[in-house]
This record gives sequence, C-alpha cells and structure tokens, in this order.
Amino acid sequence: VEPTQEWADEVHRLAKARNATILAHNYQLPSIQDIAHHTGDSLALSRIAAEADADEIIFCGVHFMAETAKILSPDKRVMIPDARAGCSLADSITAEDLRAWKAEFPDAVVVSYVNTTAEVKGLTDICCTSSNAVDVVASIDPDRDVLFLPDQFLGAHVKRETGRDNIHIWAGECHVHAGINGDELADQASAHPDADLFIHPECGCATSALYLAGEGAVPEEKVKILSTGGMLDAARETKASQVLVATEIGMLHQLRRAAPDVDFQPVNGRASCPYMKMITPAALLRCLVTGSDEVDVEPAVAERARASVEKMISIGN
Ligand code: 13P
Ligand code: SF4
Repeated sequence: VEPTQEWADEVHRLAKARNATILAHNYQLPSIQDIAHHTGDSLALSRIAAEADADEIIFCGVHFMAETAKILSPDKRVMIPDARAGCSLADSITAEDLRAWKAEFPDAVVVSYVNTTAEVKGLTDICCTSSNAVDVVASIDPDRDVLFLPDQFLGAHVKRETGRDNIHIWAGECHVHAGINGDELADQASAHPDADLFIHPECGCATSALYLAGEGAVPEEKVKILSTGGMLDAARETKASQVLVATEIGMLHQLRRAAPDVDFQPVNGRASCPYMKMITPAALLRCLVTGSDEVDVEPAVAERARASVEKMISIGN
C-alpha cells in the first residue's frame, strides 16, 4: 500500500465512520505523521489521549504508548496498527526486576520513564517523559532516595540537572539512541562549527556533548538537550542556519516542517527505530478496517498504574 491520495481519503473516511482519533508520535513515518489528527511527543500525546472525546484512539507509535492511552482512557477502545511494535528500552526492566530493586530501597520514591510496561507503571510512584523528567524529580522531597528507571542516559541528565546525589539509576538503554555515539557527534560538530546541536536525553552522546561544551570545543549555548516536543519549540526559535539532530530520524520530518529555512541534519542517519517503522500505511488501513490490534490492560494493573501516569501528565509543560 502506497500513501497515495486514495489511501489518505480512505483513512479519513474510515476514521470518521468509526469516530476514531489518530495519534502519531514524532518518530513515525512521514506519511503517518501527515495523516494523523495529532502528532507529538510522548507527554503531549498522553495528554491528548486523556482528553479525546472520540470513541476510539488509534495510536501510531509503540505499544507502551497505546497502553498509557488505555490506562488514561479505560472506557475508550484503543488500537495500535501493529501490536508487535515494542520498545527495547521498555524491555530493559521487568516488574520482577523492579520489585527486587524496591526491596533494596524500601523508602525510595520510584520514578519510571513512560517507556515501561503497564505492570512496571503499577509499581511506580510517578511516571515521567523526557520533557518533564527533571521537573518530576525536582518535585520530590530532596531527602528521599529516588529510584529512576529504566534509561541510564536520561537518568544521568536528570541527576546533572537536579544536582541530587540520592538518585539511583537503572542501567537500561534504547538501542537506537544509545547508538548515536559521542565520536560521531564530535566529528559532525567540528565539521559544522556554526550549527546548533539538538540532542535527545536518551542518547549515548548527551554526556559527550556537554563535555565538548565544557572543553570549549562547542559553544555552550549551542548544545540543547531536549525531548522531541522541545526540539520543535527550539526549531521555531533558533537563529542558526543549520542544526545537527541527535535522535530517531523520523523527527527530521516535523523539524523541517516547523522551520523550513533551517538545514536539519541527523548526527547518525541510521538511527531509525524498527518498532516505530512497523506502523506502515498498510497497517494503519488494516487497523481501520478490522479494528485490530486492540490494546487492553488488565483492569487491576491499569488501576495501579493510573495514579503514577496521572501525576506525570500534571507536571511540567
Ligand atoms: P519523547 O517523544 O517523549 O521525546 O520520547 C522519545 C522516545 O524515544 C519515545 O520512544
Ligand atoms: Fe523505544 Fe528507542 Fe524505539 Fe523510542 S526509539 S520506541 S525508546 S526503541
């Protein structure tokens, strides 16, 4: 199935007939981003899912995002065009791992990145996304220990920004972002000395970027550690004519749309998330026709997870 005008017309017709809202994450294929009713980062899409007045939500993203939508809107039917779209980061900690970790630190506050399973969220005090992780941790009593999971690079960013030393960080990573490494970034930055650097905090190179800035190799004000939504805001404001982008390459589509005069270049052009790319034009059409794959979260698990996810959507902007 090619993303032709006929395809787009059929998607719109079926979505209307089903009273379905189509949401797409910033890492989706350009044709999926363009057809969605709303495109955004994890936090923005969770907020939209919580408020949507449609009967159905079709989540073009990965499984934990659709699960989060279901937790927030249990009475709606939530679907994902391909339920196999997982996440290597969410897979890096299980509920059993977390139970054992909590037993070691029984008084700690558990902060989980939204890239986790519903079961892990059910064992969590507050969830966060990359755009509000610093605000979430800053909202916690400074005397309490914090268990931050599962992303080690986002954890290091939060630790740096909050200056807390009582934050314990799980050693998980996203294989796509971890693969955007410091050497690649240093090479690109020295080849393009006037470019801004937009870096997602899940990247292995986030620390190297700050190191380069600390060494004076890159002007400090050019290094920006941002969520995908934050990158869009920064794109509209930048004075630079070129920006080097360290995140999943789907993001370039939204950035180029937001600021057509700026030259956005990937730090690593191979950083494509295979799970995000499972949501093809054919899969979206099939989902609208057949009503599958439906995403269900066991009510008891959803109930336990809801408070932590609701706290997440109430913190930060
Ligand atoms: P954000 O959209 O919150 O920046 O998340 C990035 C991500 O890796 C989602 O899988
Ligand atoms: Fe998960 Fe990484 Fe893909 Fe995001 S880019 S969905 S964190 S594997």
